[in-house]
Amino acid sequence: MTQPAFFNEDQAIIEKALENLLPVETTMPATIHQAMRYSVFAGGKRIRPILCYEAARLFSENLDAAVTCGCALEFIHTYSLIHDDLPPLDNDDLRRGKPTCHKKFGVAMAILAGDGLLTLAFETLSKANVDAQRRVRIIAEISAAAGTVNGMVGGQVADVEAEGKPVDPAGLEYIHRSKTAALIRASTVAGALAGGARDEDVERLRRFGEALGWEFQVVDDILDVEESSSALGKTAGKDQAQKKATYPSVFGIEKSRAFAQELAARAERELACYGERGQRLRGIAEFLIARRA
Ligand code: IPE
Ligand code: IPE
Ligand code: MG
Ligand code: MG
Ligand code: MG
Repeated sequence: MTQPAFFNEDQAIIEKALENLLPVETTMPATIHQAMRYSVFAGGKRIRPILCYEAARLFSENLDAAVTCGCALEFIHTYSLIHDDLPPLDNDDLRRGKPTCHKKFGVAMAILAGDGLLTLAFETLSKANVDAQRRVRIIAEISAAAGTVNGMVGGQVADVEAEGKPVDPAGLEYIHRSKTAALIRASTVAGALAGGARDEDVERLRRFGEALGWEFQVVDDILDVEESSSALGKTAGKDQAQKKATYPSVFGIEKSRAFAQELAARAERELACYGERGQRLRGIAEFLIARRA
């Protein structure tokens, strides 16, 4: 399945905003700004910013704040990839079809580029053009999702600690919901908040993002088994080589596929009440389950 037609348009808006928010390469100290830009512009799908942007569109026509929040989410996501690829973590050489940040700039600069992107994310959020109360709610949501308690960093800890050990379904669920679903959920919640959604709708978008984000990591695990490095732009077959806790390793490919489908359906059910208006988010959900990279 190809990406929905509006994806290119959304991506172009996000690219331009990312370009404006990142310090130019010559800004002192230049090396770190080169490294930050290298990884951000290496070519990600921009799923998190697009989800944020399209979640906001359900409730508003003014999407400025959602674009800003989307960029902050992409900065956090890119930092997480740079650190995930470091030798003591997943030790990867290839990311977004290019040498990883540490391969290109060295480990010290890759650590610092990640630190720089994480910090820039929160500076960016502080400038989001939305009323102060909502801005604080957005910051609370995203910081918790990126953190250690049921958040991205906590999930990465559990992922690393589970390497080479037997993992039960509950442990696997914790890893996937924390390391990946939390930030994707924060993307749809931040978008809803930026779009001025009522609390009831914010909670619906939370459930949508949570199911979608969980599904996203199950599919990532499946693609690691089924696809080639050139298709993925990252090293295929790494999970088995590193004895990672994944859905295919615990349940097999077929059951993993069925579970991803079930999560996608769970996500889509949350959109039913929006009818035609939910079409774009539905399109994203359908694309994410059918994606091959
Ligand atoms: C990869 O995320 C890491 C996971 C959380 C599975 P993406 O598949 O969104 O990576 P990019 O941003 O498109 O490179
Ligand atoms: C990474 O999961 C999730 C993050 C928070 C970065 P993976 O380790 O499976 O991501 P890839 O496959 O390297 O992109
Ligand atoms: Mg990892
Ligand atoms: Mg990895
Ligand atoms: Mg993976």
